[in-house]
Amino acid sequence: MKPLEISKGIYSVGVVDWNIRNFHGYSTDMGTTYNAYLIIDEKVALIDTVKSGFVDQLIDNISQIIDPQKIDFMISNHTEMDHSGGLPRILHKIGEDKPLYCSKMGLKNLPNHFSQKWNYQAVQSGDELSLGERTLTFLETRMLHWPDSMFTYLKEDKILFSSDAFGQHYAGPEKFDDEIGDAIMPHAKKYFANILLLYTANILKLVETVTTMGLEFNMICPDHGIIWRKDPGKIIEAYVKWSEQTPHKKAIVVYDSMWHSTEKMAEAIAEGISEQGVQVVPMSLQHWHRSDVMTEAMDAKAIVVGSSTLNNNMLPTVIDFLTYMKGLKPKNKIGASFGSYGWSGESAAHIEKELQAMKFEIISPPMKIQYVPDSNGLKECYELGKTIGMKVASE
Ligand code: FEO
Repeated sequence: MKPLEISKGIYSVGVVDWNIRNFHGYSTDMGTTYNAYLIIDEKVALIDTVKSGFVDQLIDNISQIIDPQKIDFMISNHTEMDHSGGLPRILHKIGEDKPLYCSKMGLKNLPNHFSQKWNYQAVQSGDELSLGERTLTFLETRMLHWPDSMFTYLKEDKILFSSDAFGQHYAGPEKFDDEIGDAIMPHAKKYFANILLLYTANILKLVETVTTMGLEFNMICPDHGIIWRKDPGKIIEAYVKWSEQTPHKKAIVVYDSMWHSTEKMAEAIAEGISEQGVQVVPMSLQHWHRSDVMTEAMDAKAIVVGSSTLNNNMLPTVIDFLTYMKGLKPKNKIGASFGSYGWSGESAAHIEKELQAMKFEIISPPMKIQYVPDSNGLKECYELGKTIGMKVASE
């Protein structure tokens, strides 16, 4: 990615990671970007770096605009290594004594990643840093999504450098929302569902704080994906909507199957749900990645989970998905469990226990069918689907 002047004297100098397909368990089918921003004023500031393997490109991008040694201030909005990994090389290049601004939690977390004795300057919400004509204001955003996360706001230009928030794992030719249009929203939604869903209370509080402060945004510049400049309000509104976790009239049937019996059950349940006019997707975990299932789960009212019994337990893919979903703490869900078995048949009960641990309202006892479902068995599954569909439709 070549450096790009996004506003007068403000440059996007980050890099594209075209080939990453697994971001700690999240499938990044379109790659991602690690964005960093250079602001040139009487003083020069660099906001965030990139993953360590890409730091040469970052230095090259900066060098196309200015001698990196002219950078006066390094700002770390977030400690996670996709944004801090380049710090050792960058600080070595610009001078290890240059101030490194971070949140108070960043001051705790960065030294746990890097042994260098850098010139840390901890800031808190409301602190300002003058660059000359322009002023940076810091806003701590704890647990969005790490304790150290913060925003940096360029007051005069009304530009928010929002770290991971409002980002998307998307690498493409477009750099701005107006260049890609609504096609970016599924990527933003997937990012929210898989990274931010468990912090929705913090997000709603933050939006309230920002509204009370009267902050306006001409541009929101996240650390991943495209920049919001045409309509920054659109992604803020989407974040509020997603954070409220008001489910749609929608269900998903998530399952894995050894010999297609649980699959047949899943399809019959889905048919029963659909019969009630409820949108439903059967999602085989052999074909759907957990992070894509989670994206659909985020706004579904009903999450029905099935597994064959294997060694007195669920299939590994189902355990994987339930563990993943549990960590993201979805709210306001109803659920049910099902599964085929041979002789012991524990899987559906295990699933139900997991759904209960996630505070799902359980609609029906675990449905078990021995070996291969016959027409009566499939009718029972269909009826279960109808019950779930009616409940979803009535909400
Ligand atoms: Fe993009 Fe939390 O790092």
